[in-house]
Amino acid sequence: MDRNQILHAISKIKDPLSGRGLVEQHMVKSLEVAPPDVNIVLQVRDLNMDKKNELNFAVISAVQELYPDANVNLHIVAAPNDAPKYPHLKNIIAVASGKGGVGKSTVAVNLALALKKAGYKVGIMDADVYGPSVPIMLGLQGKRPMVQDIHGRPMMIPLEAHGIPVMSLGFIIEPQQAVVLRGPKLSTIVQQFFNEVVWPELDYLIIDLPPGTGDVQLTLVQTAPVTGVVMVTTPQDVAVADAIKGMNMFRLDSVNVPILGVIENMSWFTPKELPGHKYFIFGQGGGEKLAQEGQTELLGQVPLILGIREGGDTGRPAALDDTLAVPFDQLALNLVRAVQKRHREKPPTDVVHINR
Ligand SMILES: Nc1ncnc2c1ncn2[C@@H]1O[C@H](COP(=O)(O)OP(=O)(O)OP(=O)(O)O)[C@@H](O)[C@H]1O
Ligand SMILES: [Mg+2]
Repeated sequence: MDRNQILHAISKIKDPLSGRGLVEQHMVKSLEVAPPDVNIVLQVRDLNMDKKNELNFAVISAVQELYPDANVNLHIVAAPNDAPKYPHLKNIIAVASGKGGVGKSTVAVNLALALKKAGYKVGIMDADVYGPSVPIMLGLQGKRPMVQDIHGRPMMIPLEAHGIPVMSLGFIIEPQQAVVLRGPKLSTIVQQFFNEVVWPELDYLIIDLPPGTGDVQLTLVQTAPVTGVVMVTTPQDVAVADAIKGMNMFRLDSVNVPILGVIENMSWFTPKELPGHKYFIFGQGGGEKLAQEGQTELLGQVPLILGIREGGDTGRPAALDDTLAVPFDQLALNLVRAVQKRHREKPPTDVVHINR
């Protein structure tokens, strides 16, 4: 009996929870071959998962297909309590705001592309279930995700744009239908985006949230350990006042998700004819003020630029264009630094448990 062959056969079996291979998900804790015995210890996140029997059967069959006389002893054990819930999603970053229309989706998409350009593995989850705009911004409108059967459970494969895996409600239903869905249903969708999507291993999963504080934000923090939140605001006072409310939800003791920083969008406008001029159309100082209020830092300012709007409408975001990418490249660098700092200073985020 060849241990490597057995390991190879097992590597093709999928984890029912993540849809990823057992070996790539580091679930095979030990594999001993002492013919005719094959002793395997498999670690799962949830011992009560409904596909445990199927998993058990799949592993034993895979070994016996290679060695029909093998005596397979499979032990399925629980992962330690402090094991990460989504080990393949290293950093889960939520992009939030108080008001709508401040540029969350634009920032989320361009930040993701800039991180990718900097060499990180990045994915985008469009959690704005009320008005998913990521499909248009990435030129994916009208496309449908493939569905894969994992031990009898259908799981979605993210679509890909510019080398980034993307999931959005816009891929599943017509955007106009999104508004007719009610709260509980919408919350289920956010859970599905974690538990019924086969995400590859990612350094950063960037989540585009709807504005404000609602069911989606609450479901998110109850579903996944969010590494941190990035707040987007425009510079004027009313936007900041709303952003403070949005930010404070994450800072509640019972939620306790770190604020990684603030991004001020539409900070100024510079006409092509007057490259030396900055017009502060929406006022000044809002990003700095919000950062102070949240005891966090201003990660960067993004000017109002025609090309950024055009990029969002045509599926080729500004971050892909060398001249327009500059503020987003800077943001990406600052975010990476802020995440590293967060990991040094604070313990991993806990999923929020709320008794209703
Ligand atoms: N820095 C910018 N320069 C030019 N246009 C921008 C900029 N940021 C955003 N926009 C444009 O402003 C509009 C709103 O941006 P976006 O959709 O990203 O905001 P949002 O906060 O996600 O909105 P919603 O709350 O509706 O989800 C879009 O048309 C976008 O292209
Ligand atoms: Mg949006």
